[in-house]
Amino acid sequence: MSSELFDEIYLGRRKIIKNEEYLSPDKVPPRMPHREEELRKLARLFLPLVERPGSTYVTAVISGVQGIGKTHSVIYFYKHGLKRHMQEKHGKDVILAHVNAYKNTTLTSILAAVINNVLRIPQPARGLSPREQLDQIMKKLERKDAYMLLVLDDFQFALQKQGGSVANFFVRLYEDMENVNKRIHVIFIVRDFGELERHLTDEKAKLGLKSRHIHYKPYTSTQLYDILRDRAELALYDSAYDEEVLMEISRRVGYDTAHNHPDAGSARLAIEILYTAARKAEAEHKSQITLDDVNYTLTLLLGRGSDLMTLLERIKELDEHKLLLLLALFNLMKLYPEGVPIGRLELEYEELCELVGLRPRKHTQVYQYVRDMAEKGVVKRVVATVKNSKGRSSIIKVDYSPELVRKRVLELLRARGVNVAPLE
Ligand SMILES: Nc1ncnc2c1ncn2[C@@H]1O[C@H](COP(=O)(O)OP(=O)(O)OP(=O)(O)O)[C@@H](O)[C@H]1O
Ligand SMILES: [Mg+2]
Repeated sequence: MSSELFDEIYLGRRKIIKNEEYLSPDKVPPRMPHREEELRKLARLFLPLVERPGSTYVTAVISGVQGIGKTHSVIYFYKHGLKRHMQEKHGKDVILAHVNAYKNTTLTSILAAVINNVLRIPQPARGLSPREQLDQIMKKLERKDAYMLLVLDDFQFALQKQGGSVANFFVRLYEDMENVNKRIHVIFIVRDFGELERHLTDEKAKLGLKSRHIHYKPYTSTQLYDILRDRAELALYDSAYDEEVLMEISRRVGYDTAHNHPDAGSARLAIEILYTAARKAEAEHKSQITLDDVNYTLTLLLGRGSDLMTLLERIKELDEHKLLLLLALFNLMKLYPEGVPIGRLELEYEELCELVGLRPRKHTQVYQYVRDMAEKGVVKRVVATVKNSKGRSSIIKVDYSPELVRKRVLELLRARGVNVAPLE
């Protein structure tokens, strides 16, 4: 009998989430699909350190947009690669000093974070200069006979605050120290390599870093699918999800399929959507995550607005004629961004009815439907004077992006037995 069956009981009869920690954004995963090449490059850059520790000062730069595995791949590289290898090959320890420049924007506070939080060296009451701080770090490493991987994460914040001085300090860390055993090695993580480059004063240093730069691309939908599948395997019960759910999330977040979204290609966003949908399904005592859960979550997270949540709930209650009217409105919003005259809307609605083989409702009924939907807040109705017409007329519009809701409307129509193929 599968042990999952017992886990389920122990976990208070959770049916969806098997291992929650794997869905947390802070958990460095045991595998990182689609970052193998970047990890290999990183390993190549660190070869001098593992071959002849202390002989060469190693630096690397990683750049790329948010949520694409920059931080986690570096920690992964440290844990599974560098630390282990140095231990096995030389019996030497490598200490990870991961400092976020969002919290520590100045050179002094970056070095203080290493001294206090990583090495835990007691500090004198008077402030030390950066050179003195560095000296303390170097001495401590020497005493321990250990090496250090200093990761300067979100380094753009330090650049913005302190300009080039902080970057130049680390680039030239061992300048004038030729014969010293070089124990500190640095990885800069930035959003944009150009920003770092602009702050470097020395042309040689610029060129040097350029050749040590690894750019991370946002993930495509197929890459996200693999990442999600891997995560789902670790975190969810097999019976709790299917391929379709993972595919939908990947498609909506993938860099190649969701280019308009500022977070397109982000694994963090994709995992967050899976996690939120899983918790939603679980809260509703379901045993499977459905496409509905995913779509609801997508709108919530992509739109980042709770209004949309309510909107989706309301749309769920509409019958097929109201849904077709809404779809007609979405189609025409492109032509009439200020709002669609109700007469024009009625014509489009009739056309859609014809396409799907439904008999359109009569004029007065259509007007009533629009009034109902306006009362529910699904559409907005304003009375305005229309150009080239005799008098005042109703103009209909929505104040959310139709694209966020369109797919949902089609799904609901399908669920109501309408053949939506001609509308897609
Ligand atoms: N290839 C991958 N395989 C598995 N998980 C991944 C992969 N890439 C990213 N993730 C996950 O996505 C989330 C975001 O990754 P990470 O925090 O490393 O992004 P980042 O590039 O540092 O973003 P930011 O610039 O916002 O700090 C993490 O939960 C991470 O584990
Ligand atoms: Mg990061």
